[in-house]
Amino acid sequence: MSRKPFIAGNWKMNMTAESGAKLINELKPLVKDADCDVALCVPAILIPAMVKAAEDSNIKIGAENVHWAASGAFTGEISADMLKEYGVEYVIIGHSERRQYFGETDETVNKRLHTALNSGLKPIVCVGETLAEREAGETEKVLTRQLSEGLKGVEDIKKVVIAYEPVWAIGTGKTATNEQAQETIAFIRKKIGELFCPKCAEKVIIQYGGSMNAANCKGLMAQPDIDGGLIGGASLKLDFATIVNFDK
Ligand code: PGA
Repeated sequence: MSRKPFIAGNWKMNMTAESGAKLINELKPLVKDADCDVALCVPAILIPAMVKAAEDSNIKIGAENVHWAASGAFTGEISADMLKEYGVEYVIIGHSERRQYFGETDETVNKRLHTALNSGLKPIVCVGETLAEREAGETEKVLTRQLSEGLKGVEDIKKVVIAYEPVWAIGTGKTATNEQAQETIAFIRKKIGELFCPKCAEKVIIQYGGSMNAANCKGLMAQPDIDGGLIGGASLKLDFATIVNFDK
């Protein structure tokens, strides 16, 4: 079953309009022959400038979050229409930093996910266990909860990208081994098969995220169930192009 690889960056709260546009302009010629889909998810205020910088290239721009309501009294939040107006294609939902620091739950993940799907944004839903959960042997239990609650009610699961990001690997330089990542992502695919249908699960793009970089991307991408990466730190530099060209 062939799935088109998808490499996405997550800038988090980094870059400015100036440094971001400079990086995108440098990346454009380096990633233009990529065989995979390429996106950079950027801070909301940078979106208009980054969409402009990425014009006439294969780099799509994504957001890092979206609110579930269409509009209203939600100070500081951004709606799907606002994102779409500027040409945003992807949106990260439920990143572990949102869960850890900003009170995101499986329920709010699910609400944001439905809004994204209804408005035609392509969601990248993040799941992953903490170190304590892995050490307690609870990885599968945690992932099962995040998937069954977070993806509840989705009609076409193929429209959802999943990013498996073990929390202990994010920003720590401690990547999951190829085997750990493969094993856990295979479990996620199996679970999606049970929750939705096995055939659809074969078509769902599942990324690995957590200290993925220019040096370890080839080994991770060679795993049969790993279809891409969600790249934090390494998406802030030209290393991102090396990851995008993992197969060259
Ligand atoms: P990292 O971040 O690559 O810096 O570990 C990944 C992520 O949080 O999406």
